[in-house]
Amino acid sequence: MTDNRFYKNAANYWANVPATIDGVLGGYGHISAVDIDGSKLFLNNILSSDNPPSTNLALDCGAGIGRVSKNLLMPYFQKVDLVEQDEKFINTAKNYIGANNAKLGSLYHVGLQDFVPLKEYDVIWCQWVLGYLNDYDLIAFLKRCSEALAVNGVIVIKENTTSSDNLEYDEDDSSVTRPIKLMEQVFDKANLRVMKSIKQNNLPDEIYPVHMFALALNY
Ligand SMILES: C[S@@+](CC[C@H](N)C(=O)[O-])C[C@H]1O[C@@H](n2cnc3c(N)ncnc32)[C@H](O)[C@@H]1O
Repeated sequence: MTDNRFYKNAANYWANVPATIDGVLGGYGHISAVDIDGSKLFLNNILSSDNPPSTNLALDCGAGIGRVSKNLLMPYFQKVDLVEQDEKFINTAKNYIGANNAKLGSLYHVGLQDFVPLKEYDVIWCQWVLGYLNDYDLIAFLKRCSEALAVNGVIVIKENTTSSDNLEYDEDDSSVTRPIKLMEQVFDKANLRVMKSIKQNNLPDEIYPVHMFALALNY
């Protein structure tokens, strides 16, 4: 399959998914609270480390309807920007977060493979979206993000991982799920080092294990 097809198929898939919490979580809307609680613990840990990031501006990548922005990032950060390639999700995010919410920053309607950050971010949060990028675009995206980090800035990645050493392709939504080993190789190629990582607890047994990684520039 060409990469164009890979990206188009994913965009078509999401164009037909309802703009709801259950929609963006693939029918697992009921795990949202557990997911957010696990993310809060991880973010608290990052923000209480030595030389923590500031809490001025965060970026939510593959933001969907703004579930992570509203429930996780906005309580911590002065402003949150969102990147999302599906137009109906972006429009719903404005309602879900509240277009007049002072914490709502810029909304970028673009795929991460083409996104170039224009500001400096304290935290760049990427959740359940990086499987829609091929390895080449993922490395390039992470490099661009690393160049857009403020002092002590951190990139957080929260993604499904395979339990095997193999990458798995899902033709339903045109995505890949990577083994942790491959994720680590990708981070290395993007010149990022893993500061902290943890597995999300209390998820249903039948879904992929979910891991969080806090990444900083490897000087
Ligand atoms: C599983 S949902 C997760 C949404 C959100 N991160 C959350 O946790 O609630 C995946 C999201 O990634 C978006 N997406 C898929 N491919 C993308 C791409 N290439 N660039 C940006 N967003 C993409 C979809 O439109 C969808 O909103």
